[in-house]
Amino acid sequence: MSNINYDYIQNYVNQLIPKSEGILAELEGYAKENHVPIITPDVAAFLSILIKSTNAKKILEIGTAIGYSAILMGRAAGDNFKITTIEKNQEMIDLASKNIKAAGYDNNINILSGDASEILQSIDDNYDMIFIDAAKGQYMDFLRLSFDKLKIGGLFICDNVLFRGMVAERSLLIRRKITIVKRLKRFLSYISNHEAMDTVVIPMGDGVSISMKKKEAVIDD
Ligand SMILES: C[S@@+](CC[C@H](N)C(=O)[O-])C[C@H]1O[C@@H](n2cnc3c(N)ncnc32)[C@H](O)[C@@H]1O
Repeated sequence: MSNINYDYIQNYVNQLIPKSEGILAELEGYAKENHVPIITPDVAAFLSILIKSTNAKKILEIGTAIGYSAILMGRAAGDNFKITTIEKNQEMIDLASKNIKAAGYDNNINILSGDASEILQSIDDNYDMIFIDAAKGQYMDFLRLSFDKLKIGGLFICDNVLFRGMVAERSLLIRRKITIVKRLKRFLSYISNHEAMDTVVIPMGDGVSISMKKKEAVIDD
């Protein structure tokens, strides 16, 4: 039970999604066996559609883990894509590098090693899409440090924003997660009310937010 949706809805929707093949199927198996959190199949399908429909070719990701979502996004982006993905855990970086090479994407996907809050300050580039799937308490920082790197019309997407339902329902709240939940609520309120973006929060996976950048703005929270 994810606390985001009814199990019967989630199970029904999941069984409609075609099974992955090749390296993505292998990585799903690895993630399950080794308890590595990766995007859920519905979020994976949704991201793929967003990338294809917006023709996103330059993507910035925060939170590489084993490289599953980066490879999936690369598949969706087709030819001549560039993904920059940031990861701070060296063990994950090693695994992701191996997996990205095996997928044949070592020329397209570049892993930057370190804490995204620091790495983002040294990136001077412009992206069609930014996908955030890392420390939930830092989403506001990630937005502040990356919004100027997103093109106008580009999508800023965040995973896990409903955090097992705790963001929406007090009775689900675990005491040691209070700070993260407070930060996520503040973040969601901020992106939902900011004049420089249009945002929707979708109860899919662990909650996904999508914001479309409408104009340049300083993120000053
Ligand atoms: C949920 S996993 C990412 C899963 C991946 N996006 C996928 O679906 O295949 C989150 C990853 O973010 C990394 N991470 C968390 N906070 C980070 C930060 N501040 N900077 C860089 N990486 C971070 C963690 O080490 C972890 O590997």
